[in-house]
Amino acid sequence: MYKRYSLLLITLIFTFNAFSQTGFTQNIYARNYVNLDGRWHYIVDLYETGFRGFHGARADEEEKLSGFFENKQQQSKSELIEYNFEKSPTLNVPGDWNSQDDKLLYYEGTIWYQRSFNVHPQPGKRYFLRFNAVNYEAYVSLNDIKLGVHAGGFTPFEFEVTKQLNDGNNFIVVKVNNTRKKENIPTDNFDWWNYGGITRDVLLVETPSTFIKDYKIQLAKNDLKNMEGFIQLDGTDLSQQIKINIPEAGLQTTVTTDATGKAHFTIPVKQLTYWTPENPKLYTVHITSTTDSVNEAIGFRTIETKGVDILLNGRSIFLRGVCSHEENPFIPGRPRATSDIIMLLTWAKELNCNFVRLAHYPHNENTSRLADSMGLLLWEEVPVYWTIDWTNDSTLRNAQHQITDLIQRDKNRASTIIWSIGNETPNSPEREKFMEAMADSAHALDNTRLVSAALLAHTANDTITINDALGKKLDIVSFNEYYGWYTKEMPWEINKFNFNITYNKPVIISELGAGALGGFHADSATRFSEEYQQRFYQDQIQMISKISNLRGTTPWLLVDFRSPKRMNPEYQDGWNRKGLISETGQKKKAFYVLQDFYTNKEKEYSNK
Ligand code: GCU
Repeated sequence: MYKRYSLLLITLIFTFNAFSQTGFTQNIYARNYVNLDGRWHYIVDLYETGFRGFHGARADEEEKLSGFFENKQQQSKSELIEYNFEKSPTLNVPGDWNSQDDKLLYYEGTIWYQRSFNVHPQPGKRYFLRFNAVNYEAYVSLNDIKLGVHAGGFTPFEFEVTKQLNDGNNFIVVKVNNTRKKENIPTDNFDWWNYGGITRDVLLVETPSTFIKDYKIQLAKNDLKNMEGFIQLDGTDLSQQIKINIPEAGLQTTVTTDATGKAHFTIPVKQLTYWTPENPKLYTVHITSTTDSVNEAIGFRTIETKGVDILLNGRSIFLRGVCSHEENPFIPGRPRATSDIIMLLTWAKELNCNFVRLAHYPHNENTSRLADSMGLLLWEEVPVYWTIDWTNDSTLRNAQHQITDLIQRDKNRASTIIWSIGNETPNSPEREKFMEAMADSAHALDNTRLVSAALLAHTANDTITINDALGKKLDIVSFNEYYGWYTKEMPWEINKFNFNITYNKPVIISELGAGALGGFHADSATRFSEEYQQRFYQDQIQMISKISNLRGTTPWLLVDFRSPKRMNPEYQDGWNRKGLISETGQKKKAFYVLQDFYTNKEKEYSNK
């Protein structure tokens, strides 16, 4: 059959649905791996030319892909090929494409990534290609063989490539598309920059033929005296003896996995230093099977609610928090290194926080690991944000897949205490059904942590009411409010408001905030001045202190961030300016108002 290697190529059919991967390996950075980060070639493909043609699929070559996946090299001077990865420019991986080339700042669509690498696979070993995040949809192939597709910009996915890997030169081609769509999670309207690309690490992981794929080890629900968990093997030799050993705590146990490679265990606790933000004690846990072993630093603490209190290790706590996007303002773009994340968490510490709301999507796995060691409690969230396509079943499956992956990834993090199933989702029966299903999924996946969502408040006659029916499914009632910014009332007028919260549960104000251009000074009535933001925080703190069951706040937000929705040329210029720190790293006046509030809260709760 005559083959034209031109762009008029046949349409490819990826018969995979976007969620075909079966889970991913726990604690990936503790495994043997080759890091495939670095400079990857890229081709901007606005019309998806490398992915379609007008003759339809060639069923007989489904396994062997064509289009740009082929990574064709011109063999003779007369051969027509209208793309060439090797001669194409490169982008940093990990990294979003928007911050790496001015031409791509606003780009939404398809970009093809390609890189080659050399490896010598060892007999008896297995190999997995792991992506820690690609925004938004990724079609992945290795050596022109399809591996699969993944949708969702903030959670990891991996493919086994033991069979596809060459001994020597290999090449990966990834078609990435970040087009916003109504049916996606997030949907097509959100207040952050739609950074596209391979935004987190890419690893080639080597494992034994039967390896320890997954495990959980934490204190049992509300139980300081028992650890519990499971081990899941993956491979052919599934029934093995597993030793779990925590030498520093003098704890160990041995279990045997069943025919499916799974074993559950409970370990009675003798003497243990429980993890707290003030003393983020981590223990090295050694898990050893006949064919594999893995170690991990894990902290042990319980988190629960009791009436209107939140108890950490049985003691009432106030969550002194702040919201943060996953963006390094100095790039500006998605963090490219762990130091970017340490910078953000250190700023939160300087604010005297013991808690951070990671908005509005799963942040890098390293963030929760750093929070474990730096001593910060975390609220982690999936981007069920604003007006989702509530009645679309695949949208619900997508959302449930994302919360499942987030919990799968961070279930051993002491820092993570709250799973959030969404943000500011307007009430409707369809939304109700969707969000209740999400709450049920989160509770079913993890009974040792709390579930919440950022709800909306309603106002009538100077009363702020939170009576969202979804509240009955949540452990903590959290809501966003912007009285004094998005309301007709000015900050000094908001103290007239009272609260009517229809749940006898702990309350978190998950957002409050006002914009300020760093360095712009005027009187406190002048919008976007630091003085206005400062006054706003002073009045807000007075107002919210009326809430008797207030047990936490995460103001919006730590540092200014990029948003295409913020185009006031004088004050915003593509930035949401509600940060307490400016995009140049300057602390605004309001930063110190909140810091003082937290110093007092810390004192108030230190004797509880
Ligand atoms: C919303 C939303 C944020 C947004 C913020 C704002 O409530 O949750 O994502 O950036 O308010 O308006 O600044």
